[in-house]
Amino acid sequence: MYSDKVMDHFSNPRNMGEIENASGVGTVGNAKCGDIMRMYLDIDENHMIRDCKFKTFGCGAAVATSSMATELVKGKTVQQALEVTNKAVMEALDGLPPVKVHCSLLAEEAIHAALWDYAEKNHITIEGLQKPKSDIHEGEEEEDEY
Ligand code: FES
Repeated sequence: MYSDKVMDHFSNPRNMGEIENASGVGTVGNAKCGDIMRMYLDIDENHMIRDCKFKTFGCGAAVATSSMATELVKGKTVQQALEVTNKAVMEALDGLPPVKVHCSLLAEEAIHAALWDYAEKNHITIEGLQKPKSDIHEGEEEEDEY
């Protein structure tokens, strides 16, 4: 059911953990299953992603897609990181079973949320980046409707 690459990234996730004083942090949740993913980005003064780490409280496919997504965004500029879509991540993993496609969306959304956070903190605009819908801000009162 799962490709070798998915199994590999699930069994040995790359870049799991957190980055202290990250340039951008994004946390998103999947309304369907309640799983949560957090992405940390370390970005240098040329807007290049030096490092990326993730934490996922979710299913195996979510772990594998976050792991692959961190590998794909590293070394890219914030603009190029937008090309790391869930489709690109799935292709890099040699596909996911159809029922697991929604899991790969978490990775894309978490990257976008972290980029949004970075852009806001630095008062810059990343062309083509939309405000993430399911961003979960810690410590904020407002609750997203699920
Ligand atoms: Fe929740 Fe996969 S089932 S992210």
